[in-house]
Amino acid sequence: MQNENNKINIGILGCAKIAGKYAINAFKSLNKVDKIFIASRDINKAKKWASEFGIGFKNSYDDLINDSSIDAIYIPLPVSLHEEWAVKCAEKGKHVICEKSLASNLGSTTRIVNNFNKKGLVLFENFACDYHPQHSKILSLIKKGEIGNPLIFNSYLGFEVGEGDIRKDKKLDNTCFNDQATYIVFMSRKMFKAEPISVYGNFDDNQGTLHMTFPGNKTAFGAFGFNHAYQNNYSIWGSKGLIEIKRAYGITPKDKAIIHLFRANPKGDTSEQIEVENVNQFELIFRDFCTAIINKDDKKRMEKYKLILAQAKVMQELRDSNDLTRKVLV
Ligand SMILES: NC(=O)c1ccc[n+]([C@@H]2O[C@H](COP(=O)([O-])OP(=O)(O)OC[C@H]3O[C@@H](n4cnc5c(N)ncnc54)[C@H](OP(=O)(O)O)[C@@H]3O)[C@@H](O)[C@H]2O)c1
Repeated sequence: MQNENNKINIGILGCAKIAGKYAINAFKSLNKVDKIFIASRDINKAKKWASEFGIGFKNSYDDLINDSSIDAIYIPLPVSLHEEWAVKCAEKGKHVICEKSLASNLGSTTRIVNNFNKKGLVLFENFACDYHPQHSKILSLIKKGEIGNPLIFNSYLGFEVGEGDIRKDKKLDNTCFNDQATYIVFMSRKMFKAEPISVYGNFDDNQGTLHMTFPGNKTAFGAFGFNHAYQNNYSIWGSKGLIEIKRAYGITPKDKAIIHLFRANPKGDTSEQIEVENVNQFELIFRDFCTAIINKDDKKRMEKYKLILAQAKVMQELRDSNDLTRKVLV
């Protein structure tokens, strides 16, 4: 329970790789967080993780969300389990930060958001990349006119996924569309500061492409996949130049955040590399999540619901397009 020092206790549902790699340490680094507990389907695994990371554990997922001392839950479960556990958390009065994609369709996302809104609870979808300053720097370069009118957003996000990974299990819904394309959709909308007016998606569980038209003759292309050499980039091509980053969505505090800026010039094109302060983007989003809870920030809460629903709407339009095998006007 939020204590007199204005700190909160966090629960983590599942010993997920992403929790071990980033999330637990990010929560541990925050002075807004008091205690952290983890639960697993396998109590021995939870005990082992708790001892390795120096955190607490609970005997089961249900024990974790039933514990009245826990204020907020991080959900890094497979996508197919997000609605069930997010709604259970809301019923227990817990704030939630859930891994992306929050759900596998718009109806499910809307139900989740409605449950949190009904209880006045904070809900974040964990697009940690949203908090990395490289993207705000790019937006400021665009605003300054460095690449003229931004016309094309192009992004590749892919990596090799081995057998046994949750991403290869169809019933868990961590398809490449929900797992990877969601970032491309998110970032193109962030960069164009607009919603698409038509979309075309062409994908299966393991690979795909998408094409979205934005107002003002702007277009976003994306390709994603689980059988692909590692790519994690985007570029924005404008009337006077091009901006590119190579570590767009997943970027660790050790990776260099470098923006490549190419300007077209009749006297000879120029290129520049702009290094951006690197950060731990998990820490930044988690800090914002905890602050919103502690400050009972209703404005932030409503903003996040809106952001989540707007993203889910475009994702759904792309799924509809894929099912219909044609472009969908929105
Ligand atoms: N934001 C980011 O940067 C980022 C990066 C990578 C992944 N993700 C997202 O995080 C989520 C987890 O990804 P991950 O790579 O960490 O996966 P993972 O290691 O397989 O973790 C998923 C966890 O869910 C639990 N689980 C519950 N029911 C399960 C079931 N039926 N099958 C398998 N696992 C089940 C397991 O924990 P227990 O066995 O302990 O119960 C498992 O460890 C995914 O939704 C993914 O899209 C986000």
